[in-house]
Amino acid sequence: KEPAAVVIKEVGPRDGLQNEQVTIATEDKIAWINQLSKSGVTHIEITSFVNPRWIPALADAVEVALGIDRVPGVTYSALVPNARGLERALTANIDEVAVFLSASETHNRKNINKTIEETLPILREVATEALAAGKKIRGYVSTVFGCPYEGHVATESVIRITDALLEMGVGEVSLGDTTGIANPRQVQDVLAILLERFSHDQLAMHFHDTYGSGLANVYASLQMGMTTFDASTGGLGGCPYAPGAAGNISTDDLLYMLHGMGIHTGIDHGRLLEAAAFIQAKIGRQLPSRNLQAYLSG
Ligand code: HMG
Ligand code: MG
Repeated sequence: KEPAAVVIKEVGPRDGLQNEQVTIATEDKIAWINQLSKSGVTHIEITSFVNPRWIPALADAVEVALGIDRVPGVTYSALVPNARGLERALTANIDEVAVFLSASETHNRKNINKTIEETLPILREVATEALAAGKKIRGYVSTVFGCPYEGHVATESVIRITDALLEMGVGEVSLGDTTGIANPRQVQDVLAILLERFSHDQLAMHFHDTYGSGLANVYASLQMGMTTFDASTGGLGGCPYAPGAAGNISTDDLLYMLHGMGIHTGIDHGRLLEAAAFIQAKIGRQLPSRNLQAYLSG
C-alpha cells in the first residue's frame, strides 16, 4: 500500500536548466524560482556551484541564490562538487549543500573528472565544512540503475557509496536513474536490497524520463514505501555528461498522478502549472510535461 503523503523535491532550476542550450536570463531564473516557492514546494534545488566552464548555464549561481525571495519553510539547495564550490555556496547563503558522485567509474570521471576513490575525500571535506557552517547536506548517487558508458552497475557499488555518504553526515541520499533506463521491476529489486540496509527516510528517488518509464518507476517505489521524489517542472532536465539523458520526471505530471491517488504533496497543481508555462515560454520550445500541454491547450 502506498504512503498517504510524499515529499517532492523540485530540481528544475538545477537539473532542468543545466543542459539547456538557451541561455535563461538570471532575472527570469529568479522569477521562476519565486513562483515555485509560492506553489507549496518545500525543497528547491536552485543551481549548482560547479565549475562554470563545465556547466555554463549555471554560471550565475551566486546571483540567483542571492536574488530570490526566501520563503520560510522552503529549503533552498544547490549542487557543490568541491571546496571551491562550497566557498561560493556559503557566500550565496544556500540552506543545503548537495554533494554528488556516480556508482559507475566512467560516468564519475566524465562528470567530475575524478575516480570514485578520489572523489570521496573531497566530498567528505565539503560535508565536514558544510556541517560546521550549519548547513544540511544531501547526497546523490548517479547511474544507480545502469551507466551510459559501462552498462550494468552493481548494487554493491551503490551500497558502498551510500554508506560513505551517510557516514560523512549526509541526511538523505537520492538514487539517480541518470539516463532514465530503469524499469519498475528493477526499481523494486534494487530497493529491496537497499532497504535491508538503509531506512526509507535515508533514501530519495531521482528518475529521469528518457524512455517513458518515469512515473511507472515512481509507482513501483511507492509500493516499496518510498516517500521522497525529485522532479522537475515541465519535465526539463538532463545530465550533459550522460549522452542521451532526457529530462527529469515532470513535477506537474507527478502531482497529477499522486493527487489522483489521494496522496498528499502540499503543492498547488495550478500554481505549479503556471510556473511551468512561464519557464516553457522562456526556453522557447515545448517541454515534455503532458499536464502542461493539456493546461495550455485549455
Ligand atoms: P576540474 O576541471 O577537474 O577542476 O573539474 P579543478 O579542481 O582541476 O579546477 C580547474 C579550474 O576550475 C580551477 O580554475 C578551479 O578554480 C575551477 P583555474 O585555476 O583553472 O582558473 N573550479 C571551480 N570554479 C568554480 N566553482 C567550482 C570550481 N571547481 C573548480 N566549484 C569539477 C572538477 C568537479 C569542478 C568539474 O568536473 C565540474 O564542475 N563538474 C560538474 C559537472 C556537473 O555539474 N554535472 C551535472 C550535475 S550531476 C547530475 O546531473 C546527476 C544528478 O542529477 C543525479 C542523476 O540524475 O543521476 C545529480
Ligand atoms: Mg539528474
